[in-house]
Amino acid sequence: MNEVTHPASFLLALGHLIEVSAEDEVEPSVRQQAADKLEAALTMLLRLNTFPTFHFRDGEVEYEKELLDELRDWPWALRLPEAGVHRMDVTPGTTREDLEGFADEVVARVYLKETGASVHELHGQAGIRFSESDPAEPEIAETVMARPLEFDLSSEAEAVDWLNGEVMERGVVPAREASAVVHLLSVAMHSEREVVVPLVALKSVDQYTTTHSINVSCLSMALAEHLRYASVDVKAIGEAALLHDVGKTKIPLEVLNKEGKLTESEWELIKRHTVDGAKILLASGRGMELAATVAYEHHRSFEGGNYPDFRYERPTHEASRLVQVCDVYDALRTRRPFRPPWPAARVMKFLEEKAGTHLDPRYVTAFTGMMERWEPRSVSLEPAEGVAA
Ligand SMILES: [Fe+2]
Ligand SMILES: [Fe+2]
Repeated sequence: MNEVTHPASFLLALGHLIEVSAEDEVEPSVRQQAADKLEAALTMLLRLNTFPTFHFRDGEVEYEKELLDELRDWPWALRLPEAGVHRMDVTPGTTREDLEGFADEVVARVYLKETGASVHELHGQAGIRFSESDPAEPEIAETVMARPLEFDLSSEAEAVDWLNGEVMERGVVPAREASAVVHLLSVAMHSEREVVVPLVALKSVDQYTTTHSINVSCLSMALAEHLRYASVDVKAIGEAALLHDVGKTKIPLEVLNKEGKLTESEWELIKRHTVDGAKILLASGRGMELAATVAYEHHRSFEGGNYPDFRYERPTHEASRLVQVCDVYDALRTRRPFRPPWPAARVMKFLEEKAGTHLDPRYVTAFTGMMERWEPRSVSLEPAEGVAA
């Protein structure tokens, strides 16, 4: 029997971790074992080669200009390029977290691809980098860590549009795709040494729901990270924030984007998005409880009151209060048909004024600190326009 070489063992273990990560209800210990195996295979691989590079072409795997025969029937040789991974560079500093992050990103890309979103973004983890193009000359290793800032979030925006379409058609949120979007946003946020808070600039009023969801998700994840929440909680908050206004899919656009004053009945329609959002999320399967809570509570005031009515007064969930600060910030910073965007300083002042009444003062203070630490960058939806000031 032929012995499997270290490069092949590494890829087999990687494929296994990706498969385990794609499963819905997998025991944490199973994923841990898969990551242990992959980490061990990585150590052996890096002993053999400091900068290993793999190419995936036509269902075959090339390693250092040689085809890996033992991987002839390996399904990921075809599936990785489908997920946009044609070439993979592994650097000596690659950590277990990088490997797990890479597996998660491949899973996210596979699901996003199924939504029809064009998966052309180059993200990649710090230690393990992949590219869509397959250049003849290998890049030098030093470039592996660097990533230009001029990324756009158009595939994520397309995916959010698709999610909203699914909600309108089927009345439920496709949970896996929602978490795939959040994962990709998180990867974009960590593409630099410092956290980048990408905020998508609105180009037309119709994009508001999409850009607002992405922005509130990025801001909320950044705030949760600034507060040193565990990464699993950061992701959960990112997901809840992405979906906080999902109930608005039930509101006609002419009401949502109305320039003039809303009538009583139109206002009632708007207010229902909290209850409708929670219902949609609870009908979308397990794991949506936090998102449903945030959708339900994000307009309630910190001191009590506002909508929806609570039968018994009670404090709202921490996550609802955290997302609320980010929600108010993005809503006021964005141009709406009925008012111009507010300058950042004015919004920050407004948040401070509302601390203790409408907003939880702890999250307002943390938000101010976070914005000073990681200044948000405005990202255009059109790749050609790059990054605005
Ligand atoms: Fe809302
Ligand atoms: Fe909102």
